Amino acid sequence: MNTALAQAPVDLPEHIAAAIVDHKHYANVDGLCETYAWMRANNPLGRLNHPAFHPFWVVTKHADVMAISRDNALFTNGAYSPTCAPQAYLDHVLATQGTRHPIKSLIHVDGAEHKELRGLTQAWFMPNSILKLDERIKQLAQTSVDKLSSLSAQGQVVDFVNDVALYYPLHVIMDILGVPPEDELRMLKLTQELFGAEDPDLKRQSAAVSPEERAKVMMEVVGDFRNYFNALTEARRQDPRNDIATLLANGTVAGQPLDPLQLLGYYMIVATAGHDTTSSTATMAMHALATQPGLLQRLKDDPKLIPAFIDEAIRVATPVRHFMRTAMADTEIRGRTIREGDWLMLCYLSANRDEDVFANPNVFDIDRKPNRHLAFGFGGHVCLGQHLAKMELRILFEALIPRLQSVSLAGEMRMTATLFVGGPKTLPLHCVVS
Ligand code: HEM
Repeated sequence: MNTALAQAPVDLPEHIAAAIVDHKHYANVDGLCETYAWMRANNPLGRLNHPAFHPFWVVTKHADVMAISRDNALFTNGAYSPTCAPQAYLDHVLATQGTRHPIKSLIHVDGAEHKELRGLTQAWFMPNSILKLDERIKQLAQTSVDKLSSLSAQGQVVDFVNDVALYYPLHVIMDILGVPPEDELRMLKLTQELFGAEDPDLKRQSAAVSPEERAKVMMEVVGDFRNYFNALTEARRQDPRNDIATLLANGTVAGQPLDPLQLLGYYMIVATAGHDTTSSTATMAMHALATQPGLLQRLKDDPKLIPAFIDEAIRVATPVRHFMRTAMADTEIRGRTIREGDWLMLCYLSANRDEDVFANPNVFDIDRKPNRHLAFGFGGHVCLGQHLAKMELRILFEALIPRLQSVSLAGEMRMTATLFVGGPKTLPLHCVVS
């Protein structure tokens, strides 16, 4: 056991605990990474006590995040909440909905149910299977680069997030799911309201700060998703097509059609998990091109480096900031006793800046080999869309880099203020694209 840890108090200091549950702290990624660095050095597995939250362990080391993620029987997703939220919010959802999980997606279930549900679409998302999307994704990438080219030709400052990055992964995932183009912006808005519930720029106008009101607004967002996807299910039962909606509407688990909660959860995770995350990563990649002298030229000279560039962008971006797990039995990690029922926060961004695994972890370095980041998680719940995300990002930058003559910052990159899925919300650029 690490001696620093043996001597450290189990509980995190008040100011560190407050920072970890403060969504505003997540908008300052350098500050957040400093908080994580302090924990990795002084208390890598500390207990967080905060009056507004059910207590939990904060897991900051790469090795611990991996070990916990790997043991899906001991550390489950569904026993308590798989994402961190204030106690009053979680209690209110339970009291008003009669369940902790009014959405039952892959991230809320464990064991056999998880395996069966995941099995429904897993083959679809495998590398060989998504190859068939290559041509379609190339067209969408070309359209995005053309848009960037025409905006930059007008000499204006381009906001890479709002002008380009938000729409490309959105088109890809909606196309795969079976949502028509005219409904894509509605899906984007609902996703932002779901993930950005704490960010004043993204949340619903009516969203207020009290946990009870936050729960109410969240249920409204879920209701909007439900209305939309119920209609899509009906349409695909009557008129099957080659898309994920058809697979879900007509699929079975344990011989039975998916129940309404499973169906809604599946639609929602596919509709939401696949675009914000990918667009945040594309933006971090663009930020690296704008700030690292020589990087653009290196990639132009040797396009075979693009996959390593993408991997590093994913590590640095780590848009999924955390998932939670619940211990199903007493166990020990780093000499500390974790009790049955304890809640744990897996801090992926911290794991991906762990100096035991990554030399100079705060530096964007495309020469890392291997780049063993955990941005897609690990174990049984590892990201279902990881191959698709990497393919989309590779195709976008393969299309962009040969045409990108120059790129530089035209202002500050601003980040979303959220504990869960976050990333840049603006990236103003000067660029020249042929
Ligand atoms: C789960 C990250 C893109 C679908 C996850 C998890 C992470 C993650 C951290 C949780 C893993 C765990 O608990 O161990 C990312 C990142 C992405 C990305 C960083 C982009 C750069 C996508 C895309 C899809 C997708 C394009 C397409 C549908 C899912 C699904 C799950 C998931 C369905 C739940 C899997 C399960 O619980 O079995 N993702 N994701 N993700 N992701 Fe992604």
